[in-house]
Amino acid sequence: MHIQVFDNELQAGQAAATLIAAQILNNPESVLGFATGSTPLPAYQELVRLTQNGILDWSRITTFNLDEYVGIPADHEQSYRAFMMKNLFDKVNIKPEAVHVPNGVAEDPEEECLAYERAIRQTCGIDLQLLGLGRNGHIGFNEPDTAFTTLTHVVDLTDDTIDANARFFEKSSDVPRQAMSMGIGTIMQAKKIVMIVTGASKARAVRSMVCNPVDPNCPGSVIQLHANTVVLLDRPAATALNYC
Ligand code: GLP
Repeated sequence: MHIQVFDNELQAGQAAATLIAAQILNNPESVLGFATGSTPLPAYQELVRLTQNGILDWSRITTFNLDEYVGIPADHEQSYRAFMMKNLFDKVNIKPEAVHVPNGVAEDPEEECLAYERAIRQTCGIDLQLLGLGRNGHIGFNEPDTAFTTLTHVVDLTDDTIDANARFFEKSSDVPRQAMSMGIGTIMQAKKIVMIVTGASKARAVRSMVCNPVDPNCPGSVIQLHANTVVLLDRPAATALNYC
């Protein structure tokens, strides 16, 4: 695991965008895994800028997002699909059919998860997976104590995650209680992982992820076992690393 600390979240995001841009330039048919949340926004802004400057071509790129809320339709403003369209996909020349996000209102969510996993396997696998980190150490929506072998599955969100995501909804009771998420097993099959973590509220989770032994109680710690991972931090997120 390679860790890089930047002065601020903008730089951490731009560094992630640089790695994703290099992946696209090296292989214009790449399969990319994307994440939602506020953390990757600077990376998406930079990818849009590079695309609008004529540097990146998305016409042969395929994407899979990590997760989606159960019960939230694609056109709901808080759906992760809507987030991705607004912040990235509507601004680059990706083919609509090349964008994959689990269908939050699928009749059978379990079957939707199986189909999503199959769709990933029908490609040559995810070349580069972008990740954020939850305050409780979750990746995707894999909450503490998720088995490391899990594939895409339906998840019951913890109170901490519901509380962390309540800022995006009118009231906390509007936050969905379940989500569909790539599993830890799915994420670990990606050929490269780029994780961005920014802000002081994540410092404890970063410390557990990096300094402690690999432990399902901190799902993010699994990336210690991945052979090709880079973690991009801003200074506030890295503060607790001094005591490693
Ligand atoms: C959600 C997403 C995660 C993301 C996390 C952190 O729970 N499912 O993929 O990493 O939020 O979000 P933020 O970047 O807003 O702190």
